[in-house]
Amino acid sequence: MNTHHLFTTAATFAVVALLAACGTAKTQSEINLSAAQVKYPGYGMDAFSAGQTLYTANCGRCHPAHTPSSHTEEQWAKWVPKMVAMANKNARTVVIDEPGQELILKFLYAASH
Ligand code: HEC
Repeated sequence: MNTHHLFTTAATFAVVALLAACGTAKTQSEINLSAAQVKYPGYGMDAFSAGQTLYTANCGRCHPAHTPSSHTEEQWAKWVPKMVAMANKNARTVVIDEPGQELILKFLYAASH
């Protein structure tokens, strides 16, 4: 592979990544919640967005936010309460309350199933 080809390949990846990023934002309402809805009857886009907002605002402050698929449901169930306590302690106020913790757990499930 020559240098020019390498560069073209890298540029192509960058464009694809950019398009993918835009696509994610645009098609938010098309996220498939059916698996989450089986587990959490009545779960909808509002709850998903609320959980995502809490996650984005609080869970990438000390380390990069982990992708929802990076941990299993069991692992999230173990980590999230620990991390919520950590986030609240660090902020010296309750930034994530009990319902907020549930929203985060459901968001992580919905975004990885
Ligand atoms: C106040 C800083 C801080 C905040 C805010 C924070 N974390 Fe963490 N996180 C840490 C530290 C420190 C560790 C490593 C500690 C440990 O291993 O017990 C960690 C580890 C983790 C891990 C374990 C990674 C592994 O090894 O598998 C996960 C998952 C995680 N955090 C998720 C979250 C989530 C979800 C939130 C939001 C609710 C969050 N973190 C918010 C500091 C933070």
